[in-house]
Parts: sequence; C-alpha cells; structure tokens
Amino acid sequence: MQWHEERRMRKNVRLNELTYRQYLALAYIVSKWNIERKHATASELKRIIGFSTDRMLKITLEALERKGFIRFHGLNHNPIAEITDNTARIMPFLTDKLLLVEEYLPYKEIKERIALREKGKRDYLSVKPQVPFVDSLAFLNNKRRIVHRWSDFLEDFPPSLVWSVFERFLKCATAARAAVVLDPFCGSGTTLVTAKLLGHEGIGLDANPVAAFISEVKTSWDIPPKDFRAEANAILNALSSASELLDAVRVSTEAFSLMDKMELNQWLKPSVQNEVAFVSEAVKEEVEDERIRRLLLLALVESARAASNVSFCPGTSFYPFRKRPSFAEAFKRKCSQIYEDLLILSRLNGFGNTKIFTGDARKLTEYIEEEVDFILTSPPYPNDLEYTRQTRLDLYLLGFVKSMKDVAAIKKRMVCGSTKLIYKDARGNAKFVEKYESVQHIFERLKEAFSGKNWGWDYPRMVKEYFGDIFVVLRETKKVLKEHGIAVFVVGDQTYKQILIPVGAIMSEIAEDLGYETKRETFRVRRSTLHNIPLKEEIVILKIAR
Ligand SMILES: C[S@@+](CC[C@H](N)C(=O)[O-])C[C@H]1O[C@@H](n2cnc3c(N)ncnc32)[C@H](O)[C@@H]1O
Repeated sequence: MQWHEERRMRKNVRLNELTYRQYLALAYIVSKWNIERKHATASELKRIIGFSTDRMLKITLEALERKGFIRFHGLNHNPIAEITDNTARIMPFLTDKLLLVEEYLPYKEIKERIALREKGKRDYLSVKPQVPFVDSLAFLNNKRRIVHRWSDFLEDFPPSLVWSVFERFLKCATAARAAVVLDPFCGSGTTLVTAKLLGHEGIGLDANPVAAFISEVKTSWDIPPKDFRAEANAILNALSSASELLDAVRVSTEAFSLMDKMELNQWLKPSVQNEVAFVSEAVKEEVEDERIRRLLLLALVESARAASNVSFCPGTSFYPFRKRPSFAEAFKRKCSQIYEDLLILSRLNGFGNTKIFTGDARKLTEYIEEEVDFILTSPPYPNDLEYTRQTRLDLYLLGFVKSMKDVAAIKKRMVCGSTKLIYKDARGNAKFVEKYESVQHIFERLKEAFSGKNWGWDYPRMVKEYFGDIFVVLRETKKVLKEHGIAVFVVGDQTYKQILIPVGAIMSEIAEDLGYETKRETFRVRRSTLHNIPLKEEIVILKIAR
C-alpha cells in the first residue's frame, strides 16, 4: 500500500484514539484473522493485553467496538469479535506475525539455525572519517560531533554551553597542569567528554547506572578502531543472516522476560523486540573484548530507543503509529559513528583520564577523596521528570535491574526533582530549608493550589525536598572544591499552576548561606504556551568565599 493511501485510511478509523492496550488487542485480532483466518480467543487476548480477568478484556473490546474497529459479540460467544470493514482496509498495517508466536528460542538455537543459511559477509562500516585530521582541537567544538553523538540523553547540556564554559574558566590543559574536573550529575557525560578532549582529569557521578555506563563508555577511547569495526560487522552480518528467521520465531533474552510485558510492548514492536534481543544476546555471547562489548551495548540501547515507540515530550508517551528508523539501520549508523570517531581519536593524543561512579551526589565524599579545581554540572530541575522512566528499557537491557524493586532503589538515590521520587524512607532533607522564606512561600502557595491532591501530585513536598537535596549537594561540593576552585551549576526555573520556582535564585541564596560567593547569568529563556511566565535557564557560578 502506498504511504499516503495508508495514511488516509488510518485517519478514517482514527487509530490515534486507541489506548496502547486497545491497540495491542486490535493488532492481535487482525493478525490472527489476516494470517490464519481464525478468530482470536479470549485467553489469547488476555495474554496480549497483560490482564487475566474477563473484566479488563471486556472493557478493552467494548472500547474497540465503540470506536468502530470491531463488532464485539460477548466473551461467551464464538467468535467473540469480528473486524469491521474500516479495520479490514488497514489490515496490512495492523498485521504483525510475531504477535502470534508464543514460543521463544534461546540465542544458541537461533545461531545453529542461521549457520545453515549463512549469507555473504558485508562490511557495513566502510565509513571514511569526514572530519579532516587537523592539528587543533577547534573542530571538536561541536556538541553533535565527536563522541557526544554516541548517545542521545534527555536533558543533556545545551550544545554550545559546555565548551564556552570551559573556554571561559579553564581552556585547554597546558603541559604544566591539567585541572581536575568534577560532574556530580554526569548524565551522558557531556562535561567529562569535553574535559577529556581538552586534556583534563575527569570525575563523574550519577545515581542512574545507565547514565554512569554511558559516561564511562563515552570516555573510554583506548580501543583499536579496526577491532571494533570487525566485531560490529560480525554482529551486523549475523543480524542480516537471521532476518528471515526472526520473522518467524522469537528470541529469548533475560532482560525482556523480566520486564513487565505491557511496558515492553509499549516500548518496542514485537519485530523490534526480536532484533534487539538477538543483537543483545549476540554481543554478550560472541564479543570477548570487554571494551568493545560495552561500546556495542551502548550502540544497542541507543538504537533500541531510536527505533522504539517512545516519545519524551511531554512526559513519557508511546506512539505505535509514528514512523521510526528500523533498528538495524539505527544500529548500523551508531556503529559507523563510533568507528569514525574512534579513528579520529586514535590519531590524536593528550587526553585526560576519567573516573566514573554510580552513586548519590548527596553523599559525594563517600566516593571521591581528591580535591577538584572545577565543577560543571546540571542537577535535575524540579520539573517532574523521572529519569529511571526514560531509561527503563536500558536499565533492563544492560542488566542493571531485574525487578521494579531494583528500579525503586535507584529512584531513592535521586535528587527529588519529581513527585514520583517521593518515598517515605528516602526523603527528609526538607528540614534543611525550613528556614528559607523563599522556599516556604512557594511551599505554601503550592499547597493551596494542589489542596486535596495527594500521591503523584505532591508538588509542595517535592519542591521542599528538592531544595533540601540541593542544600546537601552544595554542602558536599564545598568539601571537595579547592580553595580557589570554581563550581558552575546549570539550572532552570519551573512553574506549576502559574507559581514560579526560581531555581537559580534560591540555589544562590542557599549557597551564600553555606559560605560561597555567587554570581548568576542567564543563558536562555524558555516560554510556555500554557502561561506567560518567562522561565530562565541560568548558570550559577560559585566560589568559596574568603
Ligand atoms: C540534567 S541531567 C544531567 C545531564 C548531563 N549534564 C548531560 O549532559 O547528559 C541530571 C542527572 O542527574 C542524575 N541524578 C539525579 N539525582 C542524582 C543524585 N542524587 N546523585 C547523582 N546523580 C543524580 C540523573 O540520573 C541525571 O542523569
């Protein structure tokens, strides 16, 4: 079917009105009919929607009938449902063969089967570096270029900011002395990669093991590019040889068996799940060099996210109908970028060393012993963004969590920038900011605005705990900052129900109280369509007062 025709038909039946559960049930009913000419049974549909009760299935099917996709005859009837003419028109679009496959095979068995039909080998990574080999670091001054582009992390630093802050406060390390640079909320390692490129020593910390993993991989460059290329090509060749088989059987991988089925189905289409599972197993089974394995796992999680249904704005939403790059294409592209960058890096030298920890910045001194010259960091904003949600797929795929209990343990380590991070046994720093009128005033106003709401809406508590956490972080950073050191915090204002939370201003107030000299500079102003309050993003520059 032509793309525009398909789009017109999809518009007719308004697929976008479906919830994710309804979409899955519909896709199953259609696939079963289109491929096997059979009707879906109640037990099959319960498995697909992830609920074992008749009640939920009935609600789902009734909704599909109301929206004109099926005729629902009742759960005791045979068949229980039939598709309407409108749905029949978009049958090819909704059909997914893998939804009907219940059996999962281990990677080893899949490998044996594909060995029988091995295709010719290809060199997928035949890229030539596009960046000239020049004798200066100037060409690295682009956030979307070298190494930075290995990951796409939500809320990472604005492109130009990090380089300009380094230029202003540190420049290149001279032969005389490299600075020790710390980022206690390192995320995807933007500060650390820049520090390393400029020859400085870097120390990074992040509460989320996925972020620590990304930062660590992005600052490990001592890998022969040709070895990486050979391994990446081998995996891509295996994926290509397996493609026919992956249309018919499902690959088992521990990560996916542990993840909530519904959530997994929201993230990835069954066909993408299959490719991701295959590559994940292949990398773990076949690649012996730990450094290369980690690089390929980074490429894997980045490509899985690129090919997923997820969208992060606003919050975490899933759109099964949006066009996404194929996983295989995304993985190949990511590997090519990594190879190209490794080639460039292999011709340069003078990079600094980097150390990364998974840990809590509120307990900084438990991780680092040395004093640092410079801190450039961006803590979470109080914007209700819950970072483990954005990295849920990565957490399971990289083996950092095995259950939601493990996820909760990570959430408890995080600065309270989201109402979803409020746990009884993890919070309590609010007491440090009781004395600040600015915080107290916002707390009271929010309490009034959100009165009657509780879990998930506790913005007043969140804001107090947030600044309490910031208080503790600033107290910790003061212990590790050298006498003449400088700390630069990148922060942004926030608003709820027209109530402004001026994060930079309150952070400065707390910092001055703790014995810092402070200065604030606005680098960007955000505007929202929901209100007319300009939201400043600022750098808060701190020095220890003398
Ligand atoms: C705004 S992001 C930093 C992005 C980073 N500047 C970059 O360029 O990718 C904030 C980070 O702080 C981390 N974080 C939250 N609470 C933390 C804590 N208590 N200790 C360390 N890291 C934490 C989050 O996991 C997230 O990666």
